[in-house]
Amino acid sequence: MSFPNDFVWGAAASSYQIEGGAFDDGKGLSVWDMFCRQPGKIWGGNTGDVSSDHYHRYKEDARLMGAIGLKAYRLSVSWPRVLPEGVGTINKKGIGFYDRLVDALLENGVEPWVTLFHWDYPYELYRRGGWLNRDSSDWFAEYTKVLVDKLSDRVSHWITLNEPQVFIDAGHQTGRHAPGLQLSYADLLVAAHNSLLAHGKAVQVIRAGARTKPVIGAAPVGITTIPATGSEQDIRAARGRMFSMHEKNFMSNTWFADPMLLGRYPVDGAKLFGSEMPAISDGDMKTICQKLDFYGANIYQGKIVRADSDGGAEVVKGADGEALTTMDWPITPEALYWGPRFLYDRYGLPIVITENGMANMDWIHADGKVHDPQRTDYISRHLRQLKRVIDGGVTVRGYFVWTIMDNFEWAHGYKQRFGLIYADYTTGDRTLKDSAYWYKDVIASNGDSIGDA
Ligand code: FCB
Repeated sequence: MSFPNDFVWGAAASSYQIEGGAFDDGKGLSVWDMFCRQPGKIWGGNTGDVSSDHYHRYKEDARLMGAIGLKAYRLSVSWPRVLPEGVGTINKKGIGFYDRLVDALLENGVEPWVTLFHWDYPYELYRRGGWLNRDSSDWFAEYTKVLVDKLSDRVSHWITLNEPQVFIDAGHQTGRHAPGLQLSYADLLVAAHNSLLAHGKAVQVIRAGARTKPVIGAAPVGITTIPATGSEQDIRAARGRMFSMHEKNFMSNTWFADPMLLGRYPVDGAKLFGSEMPAISDGDMKTICQKLDFYGANIYQGKIVRADSDGGAEVVKGADGEALTTMDWPITPEALYWGPRFLYDRYGLPIVITENGMANMDWIHADGKVHDPQRTDYISRHLRQLKRVIDGGVTVRGYFVWTIMDNFEWAHGYKQRFGLIYADYTTGDRTLKDSAYWYKDVIASNGDSIGDA
């Protein structure tokens, strides 16, 4: 069951979800700080003000990551912690935190993979129009340069945007996430286009300024499809469904990745949006389409698809009583076979699974331990499928569990626990779950301990 020798075994988290310290040391506000204050938006009225308090406990956390044997930790930087107004004056204490975090990780043998943007947009820039403002990509480039200048002597792995699909859809279309807007398609398309420009300019800034040879990717999400059977027709139907747009929707695999990697918007989507399409200036698509080193895929689940009688594709409804996580997400391990397979065929880039994991009903049992066999089963089944696709010739460089430690799960607040480490939000205590010990063995054996069963 061994994985490639240099396979990167990691875990991920994001700034707003894990740090807390929301008002400490000169940090500026983010749209999430504001959104959580609106009644009824977050389960239980929770906020990320304190969360797992990683901002104050990062040393202990880096030690725990080292004890698990993580090769890499995917963190994100809070833009307003570093630049309280989004641009301009740098908050020395804010950037100092990431400086020290990077050192603490390296001291524990854990390589930092830095995501530039995981949704906590500076509130001051939001007041200036946020992603709707054409200058937003320059703001993002300025911010990126601050990080590159400070961290690139030790950081080589960079991820520009996390799931633009979600911050556009949930943040700007349905309003379930910060900043809670419900924009028209025309405006949504402008915001999405500006975020793509931000991605492209960030890649340029990293390539131009990094002191260590950079390895750069983005981490989009989308609906992963799984063919109902191994027949040619079902595989074609599933592939077609994964990369087509048949309704106006931003949860698309192609809307963001095609511009980034192929230099054009998908024709079917552009046709659907028609006159709502944004103005695309000369050179925009070239700016957006920068050479990337890997495709970061966030994959949690897949939809089963089969060919229908007139050559199209149809989604197969899950069986009654199918296995679901506490997020109500179906457990479909083959998503980690077909997702990488289809993405690799289309974009030709090495794949890194930048997020995969499950929310579970975790608590500290009477023996003082957190027994989470569902999670070890979930991860091992997914890893077996990942191994299968690697054996089938797809280049996969790494795998990051979402998430290292229980944290603020956006609109679900603290209700959903995704961590390898249990966080007690009252005391701040951390307890390694059984899955963390299990993952330690997986890493130490380079995947051998998962077995084939
Ligand atoms: C992804 C997000 C991540 C986390 C997981 C469960 O969409 O990138 O922050 O919320 O889902």
